[in-house]
Amino acid sequence: MIDQLVQWRSQPEAREHQPITAMSREQLRRYLQSRKSAKLADLADNDYLLIIEDENREEAVGWITLEIISRLHGLARIGYTISKEFWRQGYATAAVKAIVCQLFTETPVERIEADCSVHNPASRRVLEKCGFTYVGLKRRYLVIQGERIDHHYFELCKDDYHGK
Ligand SMILES: CC(C)(COP(=O)(O)OP(=O)(O)OC[C@H]1O[C@@H](n2cnc3c(N)ncnc32)[C@H](O)[C@@H]1OP(=O)(O)O)[C@@H](O)C(=O)NCCC(=O)NCCS
Repeated sequence: MIDQLVQWRSQPEAREHQPITAMSREQLRRYLQSRKSAKLADLADNDYLLIIEDENREEAVGWITLEIISRLHGLARIGYTISKEFWRQGYATAAVKAIVCQLFTETPVERIEADCSVHNPASRRVLEKCGFTYVGLKRRYLVIQGERIDHHYFELCKDDYHGK
């Protein structure tokens, strides 16, 4: 899995619209090791890296990042990346729907946030298809490849979630 992650994280397509923190192979190994036993339902960690697998092909196709912003207030933030050779096959939509379902049914999370660059229509579409509501524009939000980029800000609250 480390080789796979190193390869995915280095893809220019994965880096075009999101800031991927530089991590050496060793740092990545230590990070994965520290996360090995973390069960999502316990929400014991502040951040998770979840691998997206196609169970029919038994193949990893991408990853989801999950940040627990506040356990007390039930706030989380998600991000997602699909390896370029698997784009436009519905993987991101299916994976985001699955994590949303798990968070709202198995954990105390009540509100999920997500942001996407204004130059990333695919990511925006994923959020729309998963039932997220557009909140507004975060101007000059993140630095991506040396430039401050405006981001669309989306939210999904448990009360508005209908399990689709
Ligand atoms: C954004 C990303 C995760 C989408 O993954 P994916 O598995 O291809 O998405 P899906 O197949 O679930 O498609 C979701 C929707 O986006 C649309 N879409 C996909 N690529 C698109 C593109 N380049 N432009 C416009 N719409 C696009 C699909 O057509 C689909 O909408 P539809 O059903 O109405 O036709 C993927 O492109 C990716 O990993 N990009 C690099 C990393 C990244 O930008 N992550 C998000 C950071 S916020």
